[in-house]
Amino acid sequence: MTAIIPGERQALDLDAADPLPSRRAEFCVPPFGVAKGEAAYLAGNSLGLQPKSLRATIESELDDWARLGVEGHTHASRPWLPYHELLREPAASLVGALPREVVVMNSLTVNLHLLMVSFYRPTPARHAIVIEDSAFPSDSYAVRSQAAFHGYDPDEAVIRLPPRPGEAALRTEDVLSFLAEEGERVALVLLGAVNYFTGELFDMDAITAAGQAAGAVVGWDLAHAAGNVPLRLHEAGADWAAWCSYKYLNAGPGSLAGVFVHERHLADRSLPKFAGWWSTDQRTRFEMAPTVTPVDTADSWQVSNPPILAMAPVLVSLEMFGQTGMDALRAKSLRLTAYLESLLDGVCAIRPATVITPRDPARRGAQLSVRIAGRDVGPVTRRLRQEFGVYTDARRPDVIRLAPAPMYNTFHDCWRAATALAAVLDDTVLDDTVLDDTELDDTALDDKSVPDDTGGLDG
Ligand SMILES: Cc1ncc(COP(=O)(O)O)c(C=O)c1O
Repeated sequence: MTAIIPGERQALDLDAADPLPSRRAEFCVPPFGVAKGEAAYLAGNSLGLQPKSLRATIESELDDWARLGVEGHTHASRPWLPYHELLREPAASLVGALPREVVVMNSLTVNLHLLMVSFYRPTPARHAIVIEDSAFPSDSYAVRSQAAFHGYDPDEAVIRLPPRPGEAALRTEDVLSFLAEEGERVALVLLGAVNYFTGELFDMDAITAAGQAAGAVVGWDLAHAAGNVPLRLHEAGADWAAWCSYKYLNAGPGSLAGVFVHERHLADRSLPKFAGWWSTDQRTRFEMAPTVTPVDTADSWQVSNPPILAMAPVLVSLEMFGQTGMDALRAKSLRLTAYLESLLDGVCAIRPATVITPRDPARRGAQLSVRIAGRDVGPVTRRLRQEFGVYTDARRPDVIRLAPAPMYNTFHDCWRAATALAAVLDDTVLDDTVLDDTELDDTALDDKSVPDDTGGLDG
């Protein structure tokens, strides 16, 4: 059976010949096996690996705190008061923004809410929020709670766009037609630029233009796009965006998130915002005035003073992305994902499994999602990890996701993943559960992963 999969030698040769060498040695890769081997970690779309240099960076912040106490705000080696300024330019370059359009703060869903305070301004005639039917649940909960907060029925106000019958991924052209036909009732379009479930990459320029032409505000959730695909938020004209940094950006579990607000909104004093002492102009912050002195940058969406120990990992991450560059990473990503796709096609050709991610490389990032008919994928991913050291994740009932992250994954990782998947799918006698057809429900996208399923906590 495995003869259809090109051999390990080819994968090793591809790694040796690739113009962008993997930075794997700079990351802590989970161990696998008695011979101190390493895992093939294809779960960076869920939680990225830890950069080895991170420990020293965090320790230096701890040392400054120990040595200086409160004086660290101004005298730490990287002073804490303006610490977030260190992240501004690299974060802006990562998402294709002007430096003043971005700020790193909070976590993703909190930022979605803070941005919707400003950019979801419903009226009786125009109060709909458009999301993907397969939006990540946190986004769905967030928009539903926003609609309810404004007094609208979430079941009516939130429009979930489904894929065409028989297809897994929602097409950009179907979003465009919906906006052309029904956009006059839409207040906000909020899509995942790369969908967490299918790995589909939307045409952000076209959707942004169509949403705005229809009179709506267009925001983007970049959780699965940041560090995965090159982004041009400013040029695309997106109104706003938010992203987390624990997936492709490798800044650690629950790490700080980013926010983009387009330049054209920065000086708009009519926008409502929730404020705190970090919203005010830092030059006069310690005058302790009772009212905010607004600043015309994304900083004015900040609320609290930033957590330095959580910012250090973002600093390390952004430095690494700045060194390699998103264009080089994307080029490598296209090579890795195409290779993995060719191997998975071999696996799927003679097994009840299908790649549901769009086949056009321009319509996807690094992730490939595989639907496995009739199998409970929880045991499949557990066996991949435990028996083969291959980390993927399960999105029950029947999809597993594999994401070769170009920063640290190799062609050999892809080969290991495909070979192991074939072996697990061919072996039906172990602890794997075979589902009854009636248990399979394409619409049940909620994550029922138990904690020992890799990626169960990070979407
Ligand atoms: C697309 C998307 N949106 C939102 C979230 C939730 O992020 P957080 O828990 O950091 O708010 C995730 C988590 O993985 C996600 O993938």
